Amino acid sequence: MSNERQDVVLGHAHEADGIEEYDNKLPTWWVGLFFGCVVWAGAYLAWFHFVADTSQAKMYQEEVAAAALAWPAPTADQALAAAATPEAIEEGRKIYMANCVACHGPAMKGGIGPDLTDATWIHGGGLADVQKTISEGVPAKGMLSWGPILGPQKVAQVAAFVHSSGGGM
Ligand code: HEC
Repeated sequence: MSNERQDVVLGHAHEADGIEEYDNKLPTWWVGLFFGCVVWAGAYLAWFHFVADTSQAKMYQEEVAAAALAWPAPTADQALAAAATPEAIEEGRKIYMANCVACHGPAMKGGIGPDLTDATWIHGGGLADVQKTISEGVPAKGMLSWGPILGPQKVAQVAAFVHSSGGGM
């Protein structure tokens, strides 16, 4: 490309450590690219916001919705089962022996309270059901509300123990 002003030093204050500034004409391809980008940006902006009516918030919500379909949230039973580790069940056994034997018997075969090892459940045999019965109790029938007494962690542990002991569904 012919350029008669090639390598003309600007000669003003823009000098640092012996480096001076040229005032060369920019190559046509560069200028073309620059203005091309400006035009493209305007067109893209119009397309993104108005023609295609796209937004990142909308894309995000679509991705979250797709993920919810791909990975459904665990049910209450699944979430509780994940926490029912052998350690939690062993802790639950100790809590049972200390608090529940008087009414449900040392082998959980029942007494004042019902058998907890058979498949017959008054209040449901799912892990979440058992946990709810223990936590809230059935005061009218003589089963205490253990939630306030034991606290949520111990209730979960003893529920895991009861559920793991045969009759759980
Ligand atoms: C004072 C006696 C008593 C004690 C102590 C007791 N329970 Fe009960 N429990 C009962 C009675 C009575 C019922 C039956 C309630 C009904 O008929 O609705 C029952 C019901 C239950 C049920 C529901 C059974 C079903 O068929 O749905 C579970 C689970 C249970 N108890 C767990 C426990 C655990 C765990 C403990 C110890 C933390 C405990 N209970 C301590 C008397 C007791």
